[in-house]
Amino acid sequence: MAQVGVGARGKIHADALLQLSDRYDLVGLCDIDAGRLRAYAAAKGLPDGLLYADAERMLAETRPEVFCFATLPDLRLPMVELGVRHGVRGLSFEKPMANSLREAWAIARLCRDHGIRGVVSHQHKYLTSFQNCRRLLDSGALGRLERVEATCQAWLGQLGTHYMDYVLWANGGSRAKWAVGHVHGRELLADSHPSPNYTMGHVEFENGVRAWFEFGRLSASHMARGKFWLDDRLTLYCSRGHAWADADGRWGAVASETLGGEGPTWAEQEPTRLQPLYYAELADWLDGAIDRHSCDVQMAYHGYEILNAVCLSALDHVRVDLPLDPASVPDVFARMRRELPECPEREE
Ligand SMILES: NC(=O)c1ccc[n+]([C@@H]2O[C@H](COP(=O)([O-])OP(=O)(O)OC[C@H]3O[C@@H](n4cnc5c(N)ncnc54)[C@H](O)[C@@H]3O)[C@@H](O)[C@H]2O)c1
Repeated sequence: MAQVGVGARGKIHADALLQLSDRYDLVGLCDIDAGRLRAYAAAKGLPDGLLYADAERMLAETRPEVFCFATLPDLRLPMVELGVRHGVRGLSFEKPMANSLREAWAIARLCRDHGIRGVVSHQHKYLTSFQNCRRLLDSGALGRLERVEATCQAWLGQLGTHYMDYVLWANGGSRAKWAVGHVHGRELLADSHPSPNYTMGHVEFENGVRAWFEFGRLSASHMARGKFWLDDRLTLYCSRGHAWADADGRWGAVASETLGGEGPTWAEQEPTRLQPLYYAELADWLDGAIDRHSCDVQMAYHGYEILNAVCLSALDHVRVDLPLDPASVPDVFARMRRELPECPEREE
């Protein structure tokens, strides 16, 4: 395994890989910020020989089987292309998977055409609160899944792609038939994670399940104000009850009996549980022990496609049927930059 980026998230990826030293051998670590790279290496006792300032050189010299990059969203396709050129078998990278549908499609296609097992770090599904809900759903105690609801205070490009992926995960990967939506506010289109300020979507899947979601500050809030980044929730409405999971440990379920509780918090799980489970599953996938990873890039692409359909629906005031043809759909983010009016956030 070789990795690019040791910023806030990169450190968590590298920590997980070092924790799974029986499954991964970290052969190279690269960052253009030499001070940051050296500080991390010193803290972990990593030798200088592992450190690189140039990703291409690192891949050429170390020839890793798996390539991870944890960089900001402006750097996705070029890193995937680099991995392809150097013959990697596995790719792991951060959300959002791209900054446009065409880029996302190019990434998903490269992975498929080159037989690369690609995963996107939508890792909340390893939280104990999420796993408790999923276990209840799979046990049949809630009856049949009918509707999934997802809310987060953070915007589409930040936590929206996470929660779109969790909708697909909860619904067993059924494909979307159509989407309608609403978007407003252009200010966050200038963010490092470009997004309308607020997004609301409604989707019907081929298995008849529906999803409703909202991303951005107007979304329903479930927590104290200081927990903005953790103020998000996935709720599963079923024929005989419902269950919900928060990112910070709480979960609940109402079925024939009422269940729920306070699990370990986000801070207690993020470094030691989520990323190690994500990478253990990737190792299992590469070893052929499982058929599919729960953060598979192909499913992440479908989530990204649905989000683009929601934005298009909002711009054109129509229902948008899926799949989208990435070659003929104009870049929806460019359109939103042109067409959405200003909408400065008002702090209530
Ligand atoms: N999955 C999650 O829960 C989660 C949480 C927070 C952030 N993220 C995502 O993680 C990604 C990274 O965020 P971050 O906060 O770690 O960013 P960051 O800016 O802290 O780190 C990025 C690092 O990449 C390095 N870098 C940039 N270009 C490089 C290049 N060409 N070669 C080598 N190194 C390079 C930078 O120097 C920096 O150290 C973002 O897409 C963000 O959305 C995910």
